[in-house]
Amino acid sequence: MSDKAKLIFEGKEHLFDVVRGSESEKALDVSSLRSDLDLITIDPGFKNTGSCKSAITFLDGEKGILRYRGYSIEDLAKNADFLQVAFLLIYGELPTNEEYVKFLNDINENAIVDEDLRKILENFPKSAHPMGILSSLTSALIAFNPEKKMSLKNIEDDREYMYNSIVKLLAKIPILVAWVHRRRKGLPLNYGDYNAGYVENITKMMFQVPNQDYVENKTVINAMNKLLILHADHEQNCSTSTVRIVGSSEASLFASVSAGISALWGRLHGGANQAVLEMLEAIKNDGGDTKKYMSKAKDKSDPFRLMGFGHRVYKNFDPRAKIIKVAAHEVLKDLGIDDPILDIAKSLEQEALNDPYFTQRKLYPNVDFYSGIIYKALKIPKEMFTVMFALGRVPGWIAHWREMRMNNDPIGRPRQVYVGSTHRTFKT
Ligand code: ACO
Repeated sequence: MSDKAKLIFEGKEHLFDVVRGSESEKALDVSSLRSDLDLITIDPGFKNTGSCKSAITFLDGEKGILRYRGYSIEDLAKNADFLQVAFLLIYGELPTNEEYVKFLNDINENAIVDEDLRKILENFPKSAHPMGILSSLTSALIAFNPEKKMSLKNIEDDREYMYNSIVKLLAKIPILVAWVHRRRKGLPLNYGDYNAGYVENITKMMFQVPNQDYVENKTVINAMNKLLILHADHEQNCSTSTVRIVGSSEASLFASVSAGISALWGRLHGGANQAVLEMLEAIKNDGGDTKKYMSKAKDKSDPFRLMGFGHRVYKNFDPRAKIIKVAAHEVLKDLGIDDPILDIAKSLEQEALNDPYFTQRKLYPNVDFYSGIIYKALKIPKEMFTVMFALGRVPGWIAHWREMRMNNDPIGRPRQVYVGSTHRTFKT
């Protein structure tokens, strides 16, 4: 097998090194193309560009495979808890019992945020979107956890500093998420105790109501665990690439994750889960005619898109969607909820799977098609859906930020093909 590829351009020959991944993916290393041939590559939306080498997540969009550090998403969703998965993503191996206990204890020791942050939160207008608040508060955390300049020459110090930043973030983001949720509901802002379990505590911090005994619901905890695990990483998507590119300027973990939250917000990315539920509700309120909306989705003069359908890399099925569809059934059944929105979702899916417009373009339900149905069943308001996604994605963002720093990756700085005016003179 050749490890070189040849390009002939304007009579000049260029040999590319071929980089091979552990799952046999092949990539041309174009990094010397400009110095050798004065040529760059162009690939809007980075549809066919590898930005880095990464050992965290493998996905094969054609085969519908998703693995974190080699473990299949099906295996992890069935057998692991979210904190184990977080440790796995960040450090590469599942934690031993001792490592798990230490990780949880260290998180618990940081389970507090500065009271001034509460004041910042209380000054946001009631109408502010929770994703904007979460991104701002994550950024504001930096003020209370000052930045240390990391030097890779002193990697041992930095390992400890990185570890401390990581446990702080894993401790504080759920508190911020719970506070954003509670403030919308007019509930007092509380702290929890992660010793009760990481996901158990998140759930309690969100749902505990004053003057009422809090009763833990296993169905809710299981559903939360699954949702968080399924969202925990997805290699170089829009928000993770954002985290890596912000971090590549040596911005702190908190600053990089805050940027990731903003990137996740849009409805073509994490915001799709809110958009899916709004779409399903609109269809229900419009009489439940799914065929009408299928036609709108296919009509190129209509801006309507079937939210929760299509994916940049999955061109067969999204393995997370399969798991979530089953989980949605289980949660509604266990909680005794009969939601007509699930029937609308199932009809849309069925129609799309039999419609050449969708099959030819390889558009299948993605992870967000069914997640909103579960969040709704858990009584999480739709504006909070993307926040829940962000909560799940935090370990993935951390893992990528850490990997990028440990590998000493260069600052991210793409090039462009300039198509504007050529030189002109200012006329006086
Ligand atoms: N409904 C109708 N048509 C669609 C849809 C959709 N949901 N998605 C793509 N198409 C069509 C496009 O119009 C285009 O058609 P054309 O070839 O006739 O012009 C073709 O399929 C390819 O679409 P692109 O937008 O080029 O595909 P891309 O890979 O760039 O986008 C994306 C992927 C953004 C996910 C897109 O499918 C979409 O907008 N889906 C709806 C939003 C959504 O669910 N986002 C969540 C993604 S998962 C996540 O971020 C966690």
